Amino acid sequence: MVEQSKEEKFHQYILNLPQDKKDAVKGKPTEVLKLIDEYPEWFMNIGPDKGAFIVKEIVKKQPKIMIEMGGYIGYSAVLFASQLIADPEAKYYSFEASHEFAKIAQDVIDLAGLTKKVEIIVGKASYTLVDFKERLKKSSSYTPIDFVFIDHDKNSYVPDLCLCEKLNFIAPGTVIAADNLYSAPEYKEYVRLSPEEKKRYPGRWNIIYETKSHEFELRGGHKDAVELTKCIDYLSG
Ligand SMILES: C[S@@+](CC[C@H](N)C(=O)[O-])C[C@H]1O[C@@H](n2cnc3c(N)ncnc32)[C@H](O)[C@@H]1O
Repeated sequence: MVEQSKEEKFHQYILNLPQDKKDAVKGKPTEVLKLIDEYPEWFMNIGPDKGAFIVKEIVKKQPKIMIEMGGYIGYSAVLFASQLIADPEAKYYSFEASHEFAKIAQDVIDLAGLTKKVEIIVGKASYTLVDFKERLKKSSSYTPIDFVFIDHDKNSYVPDLCLCEKLNFIAPGTVIAADNLYSAPEYKEYVRLSPEEKKRYPGRWNIIYETKSHEFELRGGHKDAVELTKCIDYLSG
């Protein structure tokens, strides 16, 4: 018999919560996040410390449209999308490559009462972002993306940001937060390149970023960093 993954065990745990516990957490994002934080396994999610930092930026930005690349079991989607509740037009799109993780995330998001706020888009972001652009173009609400959270495959950070640039998702005002910077050093370099140096990449060379790394000493002792990058202008020419 194939052993269940820790994610699948967690899935069974939330699906089989006793009714009184389920009633106590249903529709309450903070309580649902606590179920993940207190589960006796480590999950590769943003967690409360770096999460709180990004939440502050979301509150400042008040995004109408926010995307994340890498949804996993729904932790960041619940934490970040719950900041968008006050604005009925604001929407959160979670791009996740794995069908298995996406199923778990959907149940976590439903339990948190965020079904209408969050849409999970399953598949590799490099493909699904292109389809997403087509979809947005057809809808009357097409705008660039206000807030991008990058937290998927570390080797895809630069190519997928370049793709977002190429698709015109990044415009002056767009905020981009990228997690696990120590594992993605080329991303840190990319957002610091001059327009001239950016011409070697397939993105938009003329985007001007303002960017800063924020370091965290996490519970359990290890260090990590989030890169917070703002598109401040386009260079003409
Ligand atoms: C670190 S986890 C995301 C954690 C999540 N953001 C959170 O904080 O709760 C990375 C996720 O990215 C997904 N992933 C990896 N490569 C991807 C890609 N090319 N497109 C979309 N998702 C991808 C993985 O399946 C995994 O679920």
